[in-house]
This record gives sequence, C-alpha cells and structure tokens, in this order.
Amino acid sequence: MKIHNPEFVCSAVIEKNYPKHQLKEIALVGRSNVGKSSLINKLINRKKLARTSSQPGRTQTINFYKMDDYFYFVDLPGYGFAKVPLEVKKKWGEMIEHYLYNRSNLSAVIQLVDARHKPTEDDQMMYNWLKEMKIPALVVATKADKVSRGKRKPAKDLIFKTLNLPENQPFTFFSAQTGEGKDEVWKFIKEYI
Ligand code: GTP
Ligand code: MG
Repeated sequence: MKIHNPEFVCSAVIEKNYPKHQLKEIALVGRSNVGKSSLINKLINRKKLARTSSQPGRTQTINFYKMDDYFYFVDLPGYGFAKVPLEVKKKWGEMIEHYLYNRSNLSAVIQLVDARHKPTEDDQMMYNWLKEMKIPALVVATKADKVSRGKRKPAKDLIFKTLNLPENQPFTFFSAQTGEGKDEVWKFIKEYI
C-alpha cells in the first residue's frame, strides 16, 4: 500500500480531543522504546513523521496520523517505563486503557515486543487484555535486525510461550532498520481497514 500524504493530525490525552472522523484506526501498543513510532515511519517511508527517540517515554500523548483517506495510525504512549513517577505511569495507563476501551473507530492493534527479550509482565497483561476485549491483534517482534537467523526460532518460541499465543496468532518479525516484515504488517492492516 502506498501512502502519498501521511499527516500528523493531533495529539490527545482525553477523549474530548480525539479527532472526529469515519475512518478505521490501527493502534500501536508496546513498551516504551520498543519501536512503535519507528514502525509507523518505516511503513510509510518517512524518517520523522512519528517522533522517535533513544530515550524511552518520548510519546506521552495519543498521537493520531492520517494515512490519506485509507485509515489512521494511532501511536499510544509506551508502557512499562521504570523511570517515570508512579503518578505519570498511572496517567499513561489510564490514557491507553480509555482509548482501547472506548474508541469506536478502533479496528485492530499492532502489539510490539522486543525480538531479543522475553516479553514482560506488562506485555502479557496487554495481550490478555486485547484478547478479552476481542480486539484483533498482530504481534510484532521488532528490532529483528539484532537477532541472527539462527536465533529466530527460539526467539519466536519464547514469545509464543510467554504470551501464551495460539498457534494461529498473526505474528511477524520486523525491523525498522532493514524493512523486514513490512509486507506482513501491511497485509494485516489491509484486512482491518
Ligand atoms: P516511546 O515513544 O518512548 O514509547 O518509544 P517507541 O516505542 O515509539 O520507540 P521509538 O520508535 O522511538 O524507538 C526507540 C529506539 O529504538 C530508537 O532509538 C530507535 O532508533 C530504535 N529502534 C526502533 N526500531 C528499531 C529496529 O527495528 N531496529 C533497531 N536496531 N533499532 C530500532
Ligand atoms: Mg514513540
């Protein structure tokens, strides 16, 4: 899919400030610094449409990006970042939950985990919650450029085992550096827009 004019629409913290439109939304969830904003940029071949940072906790609001007249990407704040005060963590949690729970435009979620590590308890909670809410999800193991071919199978097995994923769970490795996995992610998105 080729997006000609991707645009940042707005940031919101509360529902009142979510944009009003009729398109479907695909939301990105995952730990802080896992690569959510980088995935958006890579899919549309823009270096900096979504703000990325080597410092975790960069995306602190819900950011809406319009992909021509096809759909919206919604970049949610990352969870599980240790170095923010409890108050802020609570606020982020509520922000994410409120969006996922209430947004009627929401069609599917892309859940990112780090391909190099065992998914965390936060990752498990998030996956279980999406399942409970019956929100379709693609699990993406990102930063795959850091995992050699020989380590792929054990890495995938660890993710499936830890998150307790069913065999038919949509899943792909992805790298914002090499572009690996782009086609798989687009294929998933097209099913839900
Ligand atoms: P928050 O907004 O803090 O929640 O982070 P995020 O999930 O949006 O992560 P972001 O896209 O800002 O990326 C965090 C860091 O990881 C940056 O330094 C990126 O360059 C790096 N990164 C993201 N994706 C990849 C990848 O596929 N491979 C490698 N090697 N680095 C990546
Ligand atoms: Mg981000």
